[in-house]
Amino acid sequence: MASQPILRTKTPSYHSPPANDPVSGATIHTLKCLDTPIHLGYHLIPHISLTLLQNLPSSTYVLVTDSNLESRCSVTTTFKNQLDLAASTLAIPNKPRFLSKVIPPGEGSKSRKGKADIEDWLLANRVTRDAVVLAVGGGVIGDLVGFVAATFMRGLKFVQVPTTLLAMVDSAVGGKTAIDHPLGKNLIGSFHQPSYVFIDAAWLITLPPREWSNGMAEVVKTAAIWDEADFAKLESNAPAIRSAVLGPFPADAPADQGRTLESRTEAQTLLLDVIRGSVGVKAHIVTIDEKETGLRNLVNFGHTVGHAIEAVLTPHMLHGECISIGMILEAEIARSMNGLSQVAVGRLSRCLKEYDLPVSLADPRVTKLAKSSQVTVDRLLDIMKVDKKNSGDEKKVVLLSAIGHTLEDKATAVPDDVIRRVLSLGARVRPVRDFPNKPSVTLSTPGSKSISNRALVLAALADNTCRLRNLLHSDDTQVMMSGLNDLKAAKFEWEDGGETIVVHGNGGSISRPENDKEIYLQNAGTAARFMTTVVTLVKDEGEDAAPVVVTGNKRMKERPIGALVDALRSNGTSIEYKESQGCLPLAVKGTAAGFKGGRIELAATISSQYVSSILLCAPYAAEEVVLELVGGQVISQLYIDMTIAMMASFGIRVERLLDPSTGRPSNTYRIPRGRYRSPDVYDIESDASSATYPLAIAAITGTECTIPNIGSGSLQGDARFAKEVLEPMGCQVIQTATSTTVRGPPIGNLRQIGLVDMEPMTDAFLTASVLLAVAPHPPASGSTSTARPSTRITGIANQRVKECNRIRAMMDELAKFGVETKEHEDGLEIYGINFSELKSGASVHCYDDHRVAMAFSVLATLAPGEGCVLEEKRCVEKTWPNWWDDLERKMGIQVSGIDPPVSASLCISPSHAAKASASASASAGGFGATLTKLSQSLTPVKYPANATIFCIGMRASGKTYLGGFGAAALGRPFIDADVVFNQQVGLNDFVAQHGWPAFRLKEMEILKDLMANYSEGHLISLGGGVVETPECRKMLKEYAQNKGPVVYVVRDVEEIVHFLETSDRPAYGEPVLDVFKRRDPWFQECSSVELVSYSGNKKVAEAFDGKAADPTSKDQEAPKAKTAVPEASMSIRKAFGLEAEVARFFKFIAGEDTNQVGDIVHPRDNGGGRKTYFLSLTFPDIISKLSLVEKMSSGADALEFRVDLLNPTGEPVSKVQIPDLAYVKVQLAALRQRTTLPIVYTVRTESQGGKFPDGAEEEYFELIKLGLRHGCEYIDLEIGWPEERLESVRDHKGHAKIIASWHDWSGGLDWESDDTMQKYEKASKYGDIAKIIGKANSIEDNYSLERFRKQVGLISANATFDVKPLLAINMGEVGQFSRIVNPVFSPITHEAMPVKAAPGQISFKQVQTALALIGQQPALKFALFGTPTAHSLSPLLHNTGFKVLGLPHHYDRLETAEVDESLRAFVRSPDFGGASVTIPHKLAIMSLLDSVTPEAKIIGAVNTIIPRRGPAGQATVSLEGDNTDWIAIDEVSRRNLSPVQISSPDFSALVIGAGGSARAAIFAMYRLGAKTIMLYNRTLKNAEALQKDLPIEWNVRVVESLDDLPLLPSAVISNVPAEGTSLDRASGAGVVLPPAILSNPAGGVAIDMSYKPHHTPLMELVKQANLNASVSNLDRHNLRQGRLWTGIPGLTILLEQGCHQFSRWTGREAPRNEIEEACWSSYRGL
Ligand SMILES: NC(=O)c1ccc[n+]([C@@H]2O[C@H](COP(=O)([O-])OP(=O)(O)OC[C@H]3O[C@@H](n4cnc5c(N)ncnc54)[C@H](O)[C@@H]3O)[C@@H](O)[C@H]2O)c1
Ligand SMILES: [Zn+2]
Repeated sequence: MASQPILRTKTPSYHSPPANDPVSGATIHTLKCLDTPIHLGYHLIPHISLTLLQNLPSSTYVLVTDSNLESRCSVTTTFKNQLDLAASTLAIPNKPRFLSKVIPPGEGSKSRKGKADIEDWLLANRVTRDAVVLAVGGGVIGDLVGFVAATFMRGLKFVQVPTTLLAMVDSAVGGKTAIDHPLGKNLIGSFHQPSYVFIDAAWLITLPPREWSNGMAEVVKTAAIWDEADFAKLESNAPAIRSAVLGPFPADAPADQGRTLESRTEAQTLLLDVIRGSVGVKAHIVTIDEKETGLRNLVNFGHTVGHAIEAVLTPHMLHGECISIGMILEAEIARSMNGLSQVAVGRLSRCLKEYDLPVSLADPRVTKLAKSSQVTVDRLLDIMKVDKKNSGDEKKVVLLSAIGHTLEDKATAVPDDVIRRVLSLGARVRPVRDFPNKPSVTLSTPGSKSISNRALVLAALADNTCRLRNLLHSDDTQVMMSGLNDLKAAKFEWEDGGETIVVHGNGGSISRPENDKEIYLQNAGTAARFMTTVVTLVKDEGEDAAPVVVTGNKRMKERPIGALVDALRSNGTSIEYKESQGCLPLAVKGTAAGFKGGRIELAATISSQYVSSILLCAPYAAEEVVLELVGGQVISQLYIDMTIAMMASFGIRVERLLDPSTGRPSNTYRIPRGRYRSPDVYDIESDASSATYPLAIAAITGTECTIPNIGSGSLQGDARFAKEVLEPMGCQVIQTATSTTVRGPPIGNLRQIGLVDMEPMTDAFLTASVLLAVAPHPPASGSTSTARPSTRITGIANQRVKECNRIRAMMDELAKFGVETKEHEDGLEIYGINFSELKSGASVHCYDDHRVAMAFSVLATLAPGEGCVLEEKRCVEKTWPNWWDDLERKMGIQVSGIDPPVSASLCISPSHAAKASASASASAGGFGATLTKLSQSLTPVKYPANATIFCIGMRASGKTYLGGFGAAALGRPFIDADVVFNQQVGLNDFVAQHGWPAFRLKEMEILKDLMANYSEGHLISLGGGVVETPECRKMLKEYAQNKGPVVYVVRDVEEIVHFLETSDRPAYGEPVLDVFKRRDPWFQECSSVELVSYSGNKKVAEAFDGKAADPTSKDQEAPKAKTAVPEASMSIRKAFGLEAEVARFFKFIAGEDTNQVGDIVHPRDNGGGRKTYFLSLTFPDIISKLSLVEKMSSGADALEFRVDLLNPTGEPVSKVQIPDLAYVKVQLAALRQRTTLPIVYTVRTESQGGKFPDGAEEEYFELIKLGLRHGCEYIDLEIGWPEERLESVRDHKGHAKIIASWHDWSGGLDWESDDTMQKYEKASKYGDIAKIIGKANSIEDNYSLERFRKQVGLISANATFDVKPLLAINMGEVGQFSRIVNPVFSPITHEAMPVKAAPGQISFKQVQTALALIGQQPALKFALFGTPTAHSLSPLLHNTGFKVLGLPHHYDRLETAEVDESLRAFVRSPDFGGASVTIPHKLAIMSLLDSVTPEAKIIGAVNTIIPRRGPAGQATVSLEGDNTDWIAIDEVSRRNLSPVQISSPDFSALVIGAGGSARAAIFAMYRLGAKTIMLYNRTLKNAEALQKDLPIEWNVRVVESLDDLPLLPSAVISNVPAEGTSLDRASGAGVVLPPAILSNPAGGVAIDMSYKPHHTPLMELVKQANLNASVSNLDRHNLRQGRLWTGIPGLTILLEQGCHQFSRWTGREAPRNEIEEACWSSYRGL
């Protein structure tokens, strides 16, 4: 596969020594790339100026830089001065012109606009072809200016002056220039070689450290693929190289230090060398492969994967940071593909870390980004598909073969599954069944961690140099080395390609880390324990010296270290716990003498590492140490012995004192003072714990395995595993002093051991457990008892405090395979089963614990089916980073990558899964569930659709009444728990007889029973006292958190008091108010939603309580006589508002109908679609303005409820305030009853233009919670709050949608900047709609906004984030244009509004007018077809509507006798908007149409024509016929009947007349839910004919007489002309209406379809029925109106159907108020 390796060399000029430039005097290294000279040095501006004037003479020099550099380094003046100076030095006669342009910094400038701006400026300044352009800046400036230079006047000369490290080593060299496109980076560009590149390393001093690291990634990359020597330099000189850039710099250093060789510091030389080395390689590669055919691909090492990561995480992660991670992942691909050594991977990773670069997707810099959750394997593979290097489907990756070498001289094709295996979070291990010929194995496991860690400390503390061989290269040893390095305890170097570590000991002299750097130990327990004592060797420098901080990751911070700290403290060291007691982080200050020493007592029952920690450092104490281990049984004595043995190898002999009473070794040790002396070479034994896994695989699979370097002579306890565990289990074991071989019995033949003490080898107990799990046979020498074969492992209690509670972990994970276990105080018992009984499909959680992962890999080899999944594969990195590769490559077990289904599918490592589960548990009870700390109440989640709803609340709050409505609206059975109680035991008597405790107990039983047996599809109201019982509260809380909604029905407590005091319900025995105060917080915390049973009027209130009211009293809410509109129309909605709201509320929380706007325009619609609007309500007191709200909301799709503007005084809010929660609730409830529009619930903070105080975070989220609990459809969420807050709202919003908003009042928001795109991205992340508001200073700002909107549309398909609908406008009058064209939820105002919610806000009507003026709203024509139509109200109706809404349309009459050509021409004209159809065309018109709705078809009549237009821009229009008559009947009936009546099984209707409109009426009744429809017609035969023609399931029954109807109808509809009806039998009228038809005692609705005269006989009958109704008849369902029956005159139906037509044609709700007023007054005037 590999071709002849090329000679690793640098550009030929590389080897020439530096020279002093004769004119400028600067010391210059010169390289060449193609023909471009590259000059390197320090402080080169004078040199640049002289060189340009001499070698690139020109009349004009043009400099472009960015504003960061300009403000930090005064680039333009410096260059100008130096050029002037150079001109005079060189005595140039015509001083050349110097022009400069400063552009905004950042990637955003690398755009077409950025390029155009520079070009415009060049042209304006008459720059011509001979000009020389200087690009002074980072890669952005270089790429952009280079591209301008490439095309301006067909090409200008240009010069690169890179100022970032990345630009110096990468972008400035090679001649690539480019700009970005919204669809991708660098998509437009060219090759244009600069005339010079001047690399002046002095620029780097001002560079932010992160940008420096960013460039170092490329430097490390180049060394890694090309030059091992360069790499070693980078590896070992990081601190010096950093110091040349990041300081500290001596105050007296000369200003131009480094310009000449003489003034150059060692660090500066090193830095320049490193840059030069990197540039030298790139220049060489570019020179031999300019246009990127093969070799140049090598510089893409790390970029295949890195770019994919960058695509997701940009701009939060920089390019270099992403490729740093990419390099490690690609090195791992090489490890798995071609056996790149783990040492090389480790070196690369350590080296990158030295330069503060992230090396894993688990790096906190990545995981803290919300977008890290999008870094999935599939996503990355998907992005990699479009890599330029690919050939076809195959992905290409640059594979290292060693540090400084690549496998091929180009990128290598890598199969997807290899990439997947490396990237995946989890691993699937296949069973051996799939590989029957599994080979015998000989392998050395990685070096022992315990020995490696000890050896590192010993060698570091020694005086001399030691070569450590077979050191474990793991996170543990890495953090230990970097900790020792930080403390200057030793210097480390690598030999043999890193196989050998050279440790230059520093003789125990330890210093405080520079810049108070914290010693960060990740989750490395050993390092944490050892380093804690090492740090005490730092001598205390007095009060002012900061302590040394030892810290670790989150998991580390939970692991104990208390006993060690206690011992060190009692020895005089000052150690503070910085977070939780007994755990890291620690702040350590030794004594003035360092570690004091003397007699030390230590509790050694938890970890032997505490003991080793003190032992290792003890020789360096001020006094000889006598260490006494106290507190009982010493744990892991073997490790103590190991430490002592190793100390002896380094020259210090520890004495274990004898117990004087017994003469046996005691637990006291004497450690002489002294210094370690290292052996020249120290060979580290393989890790015996790791060795247990390959040995166990041999045991379980019946094969053979040899570990060549561990035997009976080992210091490690786990070396006994083979003899003491595997042999008794039935394996053949051959062990010499230095090697171990195991051969397993045939598969399925392992035996139990009965009892095994694993105290000497605790770490191996996990390996033993998985083997015992599949050992079906009893112990060989055991009893013959019939008990199930089992083994009890003892001596492993300490395993509960390892990386995780390993005993529990084994129990839980083994259980997944169906293996039973039993926990003991000191261990674990395992019941073996036959492997064929193992459960399949197990997915093992690894607890971030390497041993769990490796142990279960062993078991996986016998798992059924496809083996098993190890959920977090990266945890093995702790001790065996290439475990999965070795498993496959060396042990012959197949492994594939998998993203486990249970964890969020991230290819990010364990910590991430931990985070995911932590947040899941937070949402189950913590902060997340309650959103704020202020109150305990919960917020709704998206419950299972059919989950039962529970209602709780005070007695008399309306639970039963409103719950009943809710159940009816949802069509669910309703259960009243009080009734259930009564049925079971009898409510009143029970308390008297058994007392309250027994009552509460019974109540609880019933709740349990209801929850268990009625968990779906019901609505249940509970007794008010249920929350008195803690157990019930717990049940409710748990239910509300994720199972189903618990509704707190809230009613004004004074109303409750008033009612209960006057009712005959049993008294509480304590004041109602006290009961309320106690229970209210409980109701809150047990509920996730709140329903306010608000009643603007008292009678409604009383209706809740089933109390009769006086039907004759005047309804406070009834319309005033002055209005021309009779009560049965608009006003009905208002009066029935409570029911409508209750229905909405329950449908919303059940997710059945969320009342949200369904057709919000999405960016991908490219500007098409219906525009939407919300009306901002700015009233301080909405209740007093309710009557206005309806009128004002014409055209609006939603109402914005501005919480921050509410004020109980009714005065506009003048200064910032936190509104009162109770007031907010009542206002919201009242508003709800007056509108069916969705609510946008907004709390606007001051800095965002509102009146809510900026810092009041808890209160803000308390209010947001209120909005969520009250079922608001939309919640405005400002994205400036902390992300975890935003996250918890997003995760707890139930069915609400979030409008994530950002308002910039400064006028400085640049729509086309990166920053704005980032705002949009953030808003898209948290919102369902993203709202970004700027402020316009000029009309140009609106154009800029529109370009942004267009850009959003452009990226919507390929964006790296989930793009959401965009609401974007500019405030201010100048910004009005943006309000006119914004398609999504434009905030609007109304003339009647007291104040505008924001400057520049305009009304719906204004917007529509303006849209028409700018040609965005074509005027359409409408007509009424039929004859005669002279008196029709339709033209008035529709034209009024158009006028009120500002629509440019017109509606006319088009009278024809036939459906003729004139009608056809009308409907097919391009500006046809719609038509109404009346007699005689209702049937014939169908011939003109393209389609007819099923409803119109079944009714057999079309009364409305709707033109349906294709997608925007398409001219095709299809005509649809519909019928809105039935809708009007249905709608009006629905409004006037209660949900209870409608859902009743007895609901029947009476339809009078059998003509055309009767069909519509019958259909309406059927749709409404009538179970029986009685049909009466004077001519019976016509009724029968009609009935026959209708579907049977409509259940139409013809009745012969109106006098004795078989059923009592709730709805009566007359379709006969009014003049043909009478109440008087004597009148001789065709139809006589007897009172009997209105005798249903529950009342109902009567509709007269005839509208002349207004007061028809049927209406008169209604009036009489209401007058005659006795008070007792007025039950609570129909008493709201103080009447039984509602009469609907024909005009109301006409208007209703007209309004429906209107909204179908225009997509807007008709402005009913104005339409009704106009039509009624015209009608009355007729
Ligand atoms: N042409 C190529 O071959 C090539 C290769 C790699 C990258 N690139 C391009 O390079 C760009 C990235 O370059 P970059 O990382 O230099 O980014 P950059 O140009 O945006 O610079 C990074 C930041 O550092 C600031 N800065 C620059 N020099 C400074 C100094 N001396 N002191 C203080 N601040 C300074 C800049 O103002 C900017 O804010 C990308 O657009 C990338 O596509 C091109
Ligand atoms: Zn790069």
